[in-house]
Amino acid sequence: MKKAIIYMVISLLAGAFTSCGDKQAGKSAERYHINFSETTTVQKENKYVLIVSGSPRKRGNTDLLCDAFARGAEEVGGRVEKIFLADYRIDYFSEADEQRVGNRANEAEDDVPMLVDKMVQADVIVLASPVYYMNITGQLKTFIDRTFGRYREMKDKEFFYLTACADPEESTADWAINGFRGFVMCLPNPTERGMVKAIGMGRKGAVKGSRYEDEAYNLGKHI
Ligand SMILES: Cc1cc2nc3c(=O)[nH]c(=O)nc-3n(C[C@H](O)[C@H](O)[C@H](O)COP(=O)(O)O)c2cc1C
Repeated sequence: MKKAIIYMVISLLAGAFTSCGDKQAGKSAERYHINFSETTTVQKENKYVLIVSGSPRKRGNTDLLCDAFARGAEEVGGRVEKIFLADYRIDYFSEADEQRVGNRANEAEDDVPMLVDKMVQADVIVLASPVYYMNITGQLKTFIDRTFGRYREMKDKEFFYLTACADPEESTADWAINGFRGFVMCLPNPTERGMVKAIGMGRKGAVKGSRYEDEAYNLGKHI
């Protein structure tokens, strides 16, 4: 009898924690002053979905999450484009970039003006990075810094986050999520829509066939 009561209490608690998963995500977004929505806020037929893949490993865990998300988003009519940051020339932010604001930001000589243009055009932006030393990768951070001249134009966007890490602790993945949010909270009127934290993924390709790949695919279907 005693055992049955303990089991019932544990089941009730477990149920409570599972059902509040999305609400928790919403609450954390609130702390960052980022709107959170379980449903789309972009009333458009063919949304332009820009996936920013920040790992240097092609076909690695984060990149596989990106591809799964892309499959889902395409299935529901999204116009999906993935940019694999390591394929582009993205110089560090410099003092000169501080002067290049608005149209002048396009004067930079590397690939950043073209990539930032895509960010400004996108309806939905997916930020993806593995955890590197409890943070996002240098590739993604360098790119984010370079949006400085035009970040105010990235308004009313919806955001999804994808991350992977070797550690099986969810709190480790949260460091990357905080990295994404540090950028998103600076933009005008962003809305956070969801995230995948693929934990315990040390080996290249470990995400393949995992529940995280399914999660990313299902998230993509909810753009
Ligand atoms: C430079 C570097 C730093 C890393 N730092 C962490 C870390 O702080 N915590 C962690 O759990 N995993 C860490 N990892 C492991 C990666 O997050 C993990 O292997 C991830 O799946 C790699 O994703 P990718 O295949 O998309 O590159 C690190 C890996 C590298 C190469």
